[in-house]
Amino acid sequence: MIKSKEKILVTGGAGFIGSHLCERLLREGFSVICLDNFSDFYDPKLKEDNVKEMIGNKKLSLVRGDILDKNLLKKIFSANKIFKIVHLAAIPGVRQSIKTPFDYIDVDIKGTVNLLEMAKEYKVFQFIFGSSSTVYGQDSKSPFSEDETNLIPVSPYGVSKLSAEIFCRTYSKLYKIPTTILRFFCVFGPRERPELVLPKFVALAEAGKAISQYGSGESARDYTYIDDIVEGIMKAVKKEFSFEIFNLGNSSPVKLKDLIKTIGEKLKVELKIENMPDQLGDVPITYANISKSKKILGWHPKVSLGAGVDKFLIWHKNKNR
Ligand SMILES: NC(=O)c1ccc[n+]([C@@H]2O[C@H](COP(=O)([O-])OP(=O)(O)OC[C@H]3O[C@@H](n4cnc5c(N)ncnc54)[C@H](O)[C@@H]3O)[C@@H](O)[C@H]2O)c1
Repeated sequence: MIKSKEKILVTGGAGFIGSHLCERLLREGFSVICLDNFSDFYDPKLKEDNVKEMIGNKKLSLVRGDILDKNLLKKIFSANKIFKIVHLAAIPGVRQSIKTPFDYIDVDIKGTVNLLEMAKEYKVFQFIFGSSSTVYGQDSKSPFSEDETNLIPVSPYGVSKLSAEIFCRTYSKLYKIPTTILRFFCVFGPRERPELVLPKFVALAEAGKAISQYGSGESARDYTYIDDIVEGIMKAVKKEFSFEIFNLGNSSPVKLKDLIKTIGEKLKVELKIENMPDQLGDVPITYANISKSKKILGWHPKVSLGAGVDKFLIWHKNKNR
């Protein structure tokens, strides 16, 4: 069992998921090193906002730096006894990856290998990797199970996550690094990345602009609330496995047209919809089979889409005050 004074390195700790995780770890008494380069994938000011309340907490070290900077990584690991790494730093985003695939190879694959090298060299006790439902492809059997072997991602982002997972598996075997891979499904909630559907649609609705509905509106996503995701990561932090993969998804996919309807109802506005063709890199459905996560990790998502959208809207309103 991990002692709370032991240090945990969270990469990407200023981002959407990472900042919620750092706060939760600090609340539970862990010492946290948050490593983030405040990349400009989206407005870095949002990341500054994410961390501003944590700054000043004596148990937090905020390191503004890049996971591709090997000298910096060596400095961090030689100066601290890091027990666990939760590796969340990445360039995310399916659509962007189609435009700039090489960035994903650099950050999402090479960056992960840099951290695995540190885990090996400094004998880190456990490596937890934030992977994605995008490792499943169009031909994977839905609901997606962790033992699915037909993994042919439809985007370079999915390929980069799957490649990073394979590096994790190989390092775990070669160097006996206990490793847990968590495949997140469409995370939503306060601080959600601005290019993702909920913040994007809410901003368009508030501006009276049309929402682009790609495809027929029948495509479905397994939206999973941020607190449930953080709970899943915490369970992984507290329970070591030699090597395991877990889906963290709500296991109740919502159609795009129903998501749009829900947002309209919550905002009490008539939404304008612009019908658009399917987009490259989109899959018809993401749907997590979570029997393994329930049984072995003891993880049970609790927040429905409607309740999560309410929480997002409260946060959104307060933020704009
Ligand atoms: N949000 C989702 O729905 C979702 C779904 C599946 C998987 N994921 C994965 O979860 C992780 C966190 O995603 P998020 O939605 O919080 O994204 P995010 O962009 O908000 O967070 C990622 C953080 O990593 C940092 N970062 C990027 N490149 C870096 C580098 N070279 N060095 C140091 N820091 C760097 C960014 O500045 C950012 O703060 C990512 O690995 C992402 O692929 C997210």
